[in-house]
Amino acid sequence: MWRRCLSAGCRRFGLKGIWGSHAVRRCSAPALPAGRITALQAGDLWRSHFVENGVTEPDHSTHYIIAYLLGAKTIESLEQGKLTELLSREKTEQMWQLCTKRLSRMPVQYVIEEWDFRDLTLKMRSPVFIPRPETEELVELVLRDLEETGVGADEQRTCLEVGCGSGAISLSLLNSLPQLKAIAVDQSQAAVDLTRENASRLGLQDRLQVYHIDVMKDAETFLSLCSSVSALVSNPPYLFSEDMMTLDPEISRFEDHAALDGGKDGLRVIRQILTLAPQILSSPGRVYLEVDPRHPTLIRRWVEANVEEMHYVETQQDITGRPRFCILQKEKSNKDHKLDLD
Ligand SMILES: C[S@@+](CC[C@H](N)C(=O)[O-])C[C@H]1O[C@@H](n2cnc3c(N)ncnc32)[C@H](O)[C@@H]1O
Repeated sequence: MWRRCLSAGCRRFGLKGIWGSHAVRRCSAPALPAGRITALQAGDLWRSHFVENGVTEPDHSTHYIIAYLLGAKTIESLEQGKLTELLSREKTEQMWQLCTKRLSRMPVQYVIEEWDFRDLTLKMRSPVFIPRPETEELVELVLRDLEETGVGADEQRTCLEVGCGSGAISLSLLNSLPQLKAIAVDQSQAAVDLTRENASRLGLQDRLQVYHIDVMKDAETFLSLCSSVSALVSNPPYLFSEDMMTLDPEISRFEDHAALDGGKDGLRVIRQILTLAPQILSSPGRVYLEVDPRHPTLIRRWVEANVEEMHYVETQQDITGRPRFCILQKEKSNKDHKLDLD
């Protein structure tokens, strides 16, 4: 049974409510009980405390913490008896430590230090971005598209990910496609370290190269390391800077702002990716981007006006029907056309 999303560091969009800002009150943990209590009793006590102190997702938070404490992924997968057994003093203290972190508005994914992404369990560590469920949709889309278009199917396919965070996208693609190789880059050393750690834990490290590169500042190194890739995938920072002011405390206090802030129009890193893409992709390689619903139209227009060798293929919607994924393809240059004719 897999862990499923909480809004604490979960959905990236629906700015009102989901990213919405809440003032954080300073609050202290309830006193440790003098006698022994069960996991269910501890959970009830903490759930009420979360509600009183305005902590979002009080039920899910306590459930995931209890499951983790008792060695399971979800509370539903635990035997009922485990929940009604008295906890040892040590386990009670551990429950208090974990719940106190959640009380500080730390996302539960950082509290329990792991989370599930598709069929993988990944280590999580603040401030590395917590993968969101729509990014699972991006991975499904890439897998489907690679299958349908057969791009690079006859050769050794290489995929490049810009902004790998915990490694969720690259590792998930590698896990699904045993022949694939991947290159992943990130501007954050913490993200690079976590991606390498997750790759080793999953035994995928031999097919993944991870580099600490800022694609805005270090385009030359980036281009020298990445060429002839069949697919470039990215869930880049794409929030409009003004929306950074209205983030939930779970996000604004614990996640790297560089993972979120895409500049004034949210397109700062996206424009750089699309400018460099023709030099990185093999022909006809594709770019797959997760973006804000306001972005697809802007991206299409910008590419048509600015990047001769890229063609906007289509926009795809997420499960809630919002336009969230852009697919672009490298066009043959005039030089390639000429070679074909010769
Ligand atoms: C929204 S997070 C996505 C992380 C991961 N791919 C995922 O979906 O969970 C964006 C990532 O891009 C990285 N990033 C931001 N600006 C970058 C840049 N200029 N060069 C390379 N990586 C960058 C951030 O550090 C962050 O890890």
